Amino acid sequence: MGHTQFLGSLALAVGLSAPPGFAGPAYESVKVEAGKALFDAECHRCHADNSSDPSYGPPLTGIIGRAAGTYDDYDYSETLANAPIVWTPAALRAWMEDNTGFMPGTKMRHVGITDRTVQDFILSYLATLEN
Ligand code: HEC
Repeated sequence: MGHTQFLGSLALAVGLSAPPGFAGPAYESVKVEAGKALFDAECHRCHADNSSDPSYGPPLTGIIGRAAGTYDDYDYSETLANAPIVWTPAALRAWMEDNTGFMPGTKMRHVGITDRTVQDFILSYLATLEN
């Protein structure tokens, strides 16, 4: 049994469901699971993680690397529609930490996720969401 395969089995043995295409160490899979739980608690009521689901805010599928305010057919605030940024992990951290301070005028209600580990987990989950 290869090293990666062993870690994958270990993750399954402790009851974690591996995302499709799982190939990394067990730790990454734990982060994704934790990130999904945090996403469900903090973001999911306003953001779909699947582009076929209805979403009050813009769906967050493919968000890492997407230019801000560019999801087709979403009615963004002027501020977000004209924001000249790409959603890098660093920009997403700043947004989670204080979105209304980072981009005054956004219509997303303030969230204040300042814990770097919590941000890490959410970013790990967001990275799994494909378009
Ligand atoms: C109460 C509803 C609500 C919650 C909770 C919420 N958002 Fe939002 N979010 C919105 C809305 C509405 C917008 C669009 C804002 C605008 O147009 O100014 C938005 C925009 C965004 C954008 C910009 C997307 C783009 O296409 O440019 C990101 C990234 C984002 N939210 C991430 C998150 C994350 C991560 C969480 C959880 C930590 C979260 N949001 C929680 C409502 C919410």
